[in-house]
Amino acid sequence: LKALPEGYSCRPLRRSDYHAGFLDVLSVLTVVGKISEEAWNERYDWMSKRNDEYFLLCILDANQKIVGTGAVFVERKFIHSLGLVGHIEDIAVAKDQQGKKLGLRIIQALDYVAEHVGCYKTILDCSEANEGFYVKCGFKRAGLEMAHYY
Ligand code: ACO
Repeated sequence: LKALPEGYSCRPLRRSDYHAGFLDVLSVLTVVGKISEEAWNERYDWMSKRNDEYFLLCILDANQKIVGTGAVFVERKFIHSLGLVGHIEDIAVAKDQQGKKLGLRIIQALDYVAEHVGCYKTILDCSEANEGFYVKCGFKRAGLEMAHYY
């Protein structure tokens, strides 16, 4: 991945990342909740069996601590000749690491994955406050998010 800060790296999420700070980074985004290692492993294994559908990336600093993460989920459709759509989800950069273009690099990497698995577009939902970030990443406003919480 081009232009990460010196010593930083980007790779797919691993099962052992329960101990590398992944959930701490995600907590800058929203409430993560208490997740036991057993529950983590179960969810990780479920996702890794679907590794043509769930792509989770993380960025590590020079000390191998996770400082950023993001996911793209590939949805299979009937429309657009069995088209595939990428859904970017759960982008988070640790508070003290923001502003170093890590978020941009995560989006670029997820976009690359989505395009290369054959998605015809990638979409995401974000707050107004994050619109400028996604515009810098090459996205444009399209439609309106609706939600039904249970
Ligand atoms: N509004 C406008 N511009 C922004 C914003 C913003 N909120 N955030 C960053 N930018 C700009 C930067 O200034 C930079 O511009 P430049 O190229 O002109 O210098 C460019 O966008 C790239 O910024 P990065 O340094 O890559 O941003 P960062 O690494 O700080 O990551 C992120 C941005 C992911 C939004 C981070 O601030 C974060 O984790 N926030 C908390 C969690 C969050 O809101 N995640 C997104 C939820 S939406 C979703 O997951 C689909």
